[in-house]
Amino acid sequence: MIETKLTALLGVGGPIQLAGMPGVGTPALVAAVAAAGGIGMIPAPMLPADALAGVLDDVATRTTGVFGVNFLMPFLDRTCVEVAARKARLVEFFYDDPDPELVRLVHSHDALVSWQVGSRGEAIAAERAGCDVIVAQGTEAGGHVRGQTGLAPLLAEVRGAVGVPVIAAGGIATARDVAAVLTNGAAGARIGTRFVASAESGAHPAWVQALLAASAADTCLTETFSSMWPNAPHRVLRSAVTAANAASENVVGEMQLGGQAVPVERFSAICPSGSTTGRIEAMALYAGTSVANVDRVQPAAEIVAELVSGTAYP
Ligand SMILES: Cc1cc2nc3c(=O)[nH]c(=O)nc-3n(C[C@H](O)[C@H](O)[C@H](O)COP(=O)(O)O)c2cc1C
Repeated sequence: MIETKLTALLGVGGPIQLAGMPGVGTPALVAAVAAAGGIGMIPAPMLPADALAGVLDDVATRTTGVFGVNFLMPFLDRTCVEVAARKARLVEFFYDDPDPELVRLVHSHDALVSWQVGSRGEAIAAERAGCDVIVAQGTEAGGHVRGQTGLAPLLAEVRGAVGVPVIAAGGIATARDVAAVLTNGAAGARIGTRFVASAESGAHPAWVQALLAASAADTCLTETFSSMWPNAPHRVLRSAVTAANAASENVVGEMQLGGQAVPVERFSAICPSGSTTGRIEAMALYAGTSVANVDRVQPAAEIVAELVSGTAYP
C-alpha cells in the first residue's frame, strides 16, 4: 500500500491513474484499473450524453472501484459534463484555461474536479478555479502535450505553487518512475502509453506492436495529426509522421463511430482502435517517451500491481 494525499482524497488503494484515452479506454480497461485500486478514467470525446451515461453504468456494474471522466475542452459538451458529475467520482478537463464555472457545475453534483496542466501558471489558475486535484503534464507525455517543460522541472514548479494533490504525467512506465515522482512531491502518477499496451486496451494491435518495438527516440512532438484539432502539439511515433507524409490519398482508412463506418482522413487526430481498417501505420500513433519501458502486453491489473510494488524493475 502506498498512501498519499490523493489516495486519501479519492479513497483508492494506490496512487495510479489511467489517462483518459479515446479509442483506448474501453469500459473493461477502466474497470480493470479501478478494480486493481487505481483510478480508471473514461474518455468522453465523441460520446453523446446518453452513450456516456451507458458507459458509466457499464463500468459501475463491473467494479466498485473509483473512476472518473476525462473531457477535452476543444470538444466539450456541457450536458455530458453534468452526466459525468452525477455518475463519477472525478471529472477532469484538459487543453484550455481552467474554468471556475465548470468547476462549480461539477461540484454542485458532489464530484471532484481535476485539471491537467502544462505550466506553473496554469496550475495556479486551476487551483484558483477551485480544482481539487491538478495533473502536471511534462513534454515526455504521449498524446496531446499542453506545455513546454519536462516533467521533473514542471513538477518542482507546480508543487511549490499549489496546495492540492498533484498527479505527475509524462514518461512514467515503471515502478521506479512512480517512486521518483512520489519522492519529488507528486501524490500520484498518471499513465497513458503503458496502458495502450494492456490486454483490455481498445488500441489497434498494429499500433500496440509498434509501441513494443519502439524506444523513446522513436517518438517526436509534432503538429502533423492536426485535422479537427489544430495548434495542439502531440507526441507520436515518428514512423507515423513519415508514413502519413508519404501517403498520397486524402482518406487513409475507416473507423466505426456509433455503429457507422466513417472515413479516417489523412492527418486526423483520431488514433486507430481495434475496428479501424486501412493504413494504420499512417494514423496518429500516440506514444510517450515512456514507450522505452513498454515491452509486453499485460493485463491492466498486473500493470497497476507492478507499478506500486517496485519489485518488477529492481
Ligand atoms: C493514446 C493517448 C490518448 C490521449 N488522450 C488524452 C485525452 O483524451 N485527454 C487527456 O487529458 N489526455 C490524453 N492523453 C495524455 C495523457 O493524459 C497523459 O498526459 C499521457 O499519456 C502521459 O504520458 P505517457 O503516455 O508517457 O504515460 C493521451 C495520451 C495517449 C498516449
